[in-house]
Amino acid sequence: MAKHTIAWMPGDGVGVDVMDATRIVLDALNLDAEYVPADIGWEFWCKEGNPLPDRTLELLKSTDCALFGAITSKPRDEANQELDPSLQDKGLSYFSPIVKLRQVFNLHTNLRPCKAYPGNPLNYRDDIDLVVFRENTEGMYGGIEWFPLPEKIATAMADPQVGHPDRMKRWFEKGLDNVAVSTRVMSRQGCESICTQAFEYAKNFGRKTVTLVEKPNVLRETGGLMTREFRKVAKQYPGIQAWEANIDAICMWMIKNPQDYDVLVAENMFGDIVSDLCAGLVGGLGFACAANIGDDYAVFEPTHGSAPKYIGQNVVNPMAMILTAKMMLDWLSETELANRLEAAVAKTIAEGKIATYDVKGRGKGDSTTVVAHEIAANL
Ligand code: IPM
Ligand code: MG
Repeated sequence: MAKHTIAWMPGDGVGVDVMDATRIVLDALNLDAEYVPADIGWEFWCKEGNPLPDRTLELLKSTDCALFGAITSKPRDEANQELDPSLQDKGLSYFSPIVKLRQVFNLHTNLRPCKAYPGNPLNYRDDIDLVVFRENTEGMYGGIEWFPLPEKIATAMADPQVGHPDRMKRWFEKGLDNVAVSTRVMSRQGCESICTQAFEYAKNFGRKTVTLVEKPNVLRETGGLMTREFRKVAKQYPGIQAWEANIDAICMWMIKNPQDYDVLVAENMFGDIVSDLCAGLVGGLGFACAANIGDDYAVFEPTHGSAPKYIGQNVVNPMAMILTAKMMLDWLSETELANRLEAAVAKTIAEGKIATYDVKGRGKGDSTTVVAHEIAANL
């Protein structure tokens, strides 16, 4: 039996190309693993009305972790149109399988390192080395939303004892049929856990600062809860500086002085936003790796999406996916292989001979597969 059992989920679009590329590199590393293919993505929504079939959830439970390429999501009306005719009018509605996986397996931590590898011409600066800790199951991703706003909910929100009668008045005046509500629900435990992980990481990897990304001046209750937990946790790590920034301000500071930041910690949506920003500073989504980590399971998935316009062309940068596999190796305690893999990617970037179009310019790039073979050769 192989040492590791890994669920293999290319998903949609260029997910297939970057996963094929990653396999070339993992095979060159001789990782002792069995890869078990699992169904996920748009195809299964269209054919079965479920982008994350139950059999996939069962299969994942029998594996150590999952490697995942990318997912296509479309707005409700488009999703319904592409559904097999036999499934239409059954009241099915599309949901994001990755968001669901994060919930079902309680993958509470989304870890997103953004490092400027020397020699990457797309680096904003060469001295950027950030890690984003994004809370991954709470906040605006909880799926507690309404449109139109049901009378019952609106009435509770306006209840003089527990609600906001004055603030709700204008929404009743507009008519509840015209009002949509999405909620940001956060727990003290969720806030404490993500902050603790960020500080632990800083301690273990010799990082000097941890910055909270929030907006407590406006989101007083959720932002306030997160800020209090952050300060409480920070007290236990006197050697690490605790900085606080608002989400809007940090978008500006990241452009001015990204090299000043070390570890960022944020709730779900702000972490989503700031991690794309950080990715943009170190070469873009072609380099942005990520890991969804829970207590005993993890799904490794790059930050990028399925890039529908590049489907079947084998041109996108596989480095984000390959660096994501590096994170998986770290998580599996295959530290030596992880280090070799990262060094091979760094070498390929530094040499600059072989690279995809995002680096070399449109029409001038090497293929996804060629880049993978170059990394494999550099192992
Ligand atoms: C990400 C993506 C996802 C998210 C989408 C695809 C649901 O943007 O992983 O950052 O918003 O979390
Ligand atoms: Mg995102």
